[in-house]
Amino acid sequence: MIEPGQLVLLVSPKGKRYLRKYDEKDVLHTNEGHLSLSEAAAAGYGGLVRTHLGRPYRILKPTLYDLVKNVRRQTQIIYPKDIGYIAMRLSAVSGARIVEAGSGSGSLTVALAALVGPAGKVYTYERRPEFKKLCTRNLEWAGFGDGRVEQFDRDIAEGFLPHAADALFLDVRTPWEYLQHIPGAVLPGAPLGFLLPTVPQVADLLAGLEAGPFEELEVLEILLRRWKPVSERLRPDDRMVAHTGFLVFARLTAGERLASEPAAGESEVDAAEADEGLTDQAE
Ligand SMILES: C[S@@+](CC[C@H](N)C(=O)[O-])C[C@H]1O[C@@H](n2cnc3c(N)ncnc32)[C@H](O)[C@@H]1O
Repeated sequence: MIEPGQLVLLVSPKGKRYLRKYDEKDVLHTNEGHLSLSEAAAAGYGGLVRTHLGRPYRILKPTLYDLVKNVRRQTQIIYPKDIGYIAMRLSAVSGARIVEAGSGSGSLTVALAALVGPAGKVYTYERRPEFKKLCTRNLEWAGFGDGRVEQFDRDIAEGFLPHAADALFLDVRTPWEYLQHIPGAVLPGAPLGFLLPTVPQVADLLAGLEAGPFEELEVLEILLRRWKPVSERLRPDDRMVAHTGFLVFARLTAGERLASEPAAGESEVDAAEADEGLTDQAE
């Protein structure tokens, strides 16, 4: 039995998806007729409900993927494929404390809130009041309005509060302008992540990171290629989203640099091979 206030995902035979918060009086209007949410709630997750025209809909409990894909958007959002790797790199696990800017629509905020759980904390900064409000709305809708996320109505050009957090992620246009504020927000050694849509932005960020105190730099993009899930015609989909953003990761250091000159015995050939990716790169 689904309780009022729980989220319900209704999926048509053609794959159309509706995500609703269950309210006993609600009726879902679809192209294939209307269906009563209280009947869906009685059938429960995994069950079927029919519209008044007899079309069946599958009732599912939304996953974190569904929540992130369904936040109300007024900004570009970070997509699940990127969030998955970000979560690994930032170690966004139960109890973690993570600083983030800008909140935007709150897609990453919702995911981080779920991952750090009620024992963790997400500190999210946003300079535009309308997006802060939208992020609040999306957090409440997703069920994370319980205090695990603290929102700051602030331009990070003014710096962060001293959170001594475990990790930090910036999804802002010019992150290199704020690097000097990072040591005030997170613990030494903390993993840091950035998302940027264009190559010149990545180059500007790298130049800032190379000036220190940052190490372990990584730049990547994640390509997701879906396949037609049909056993007799199994093959990649015709279309794919070719670009969402570049991800950049680094670690904040406590100051002193790890030597970057070639170690005794390392030749220029070794360095060139490393540049060409000829060295062992076990993933
Ligand atoms: C692309 S959106 C972030 C989207 C968000 N990560 C998500 O997944 O929904 C970028 C946001 O950063 C905010 N922003 C840009 N520069 C900022 C700054 N200096 N301080 C605070 N917020 C900033 C913008 O107002 C905008 O809402």
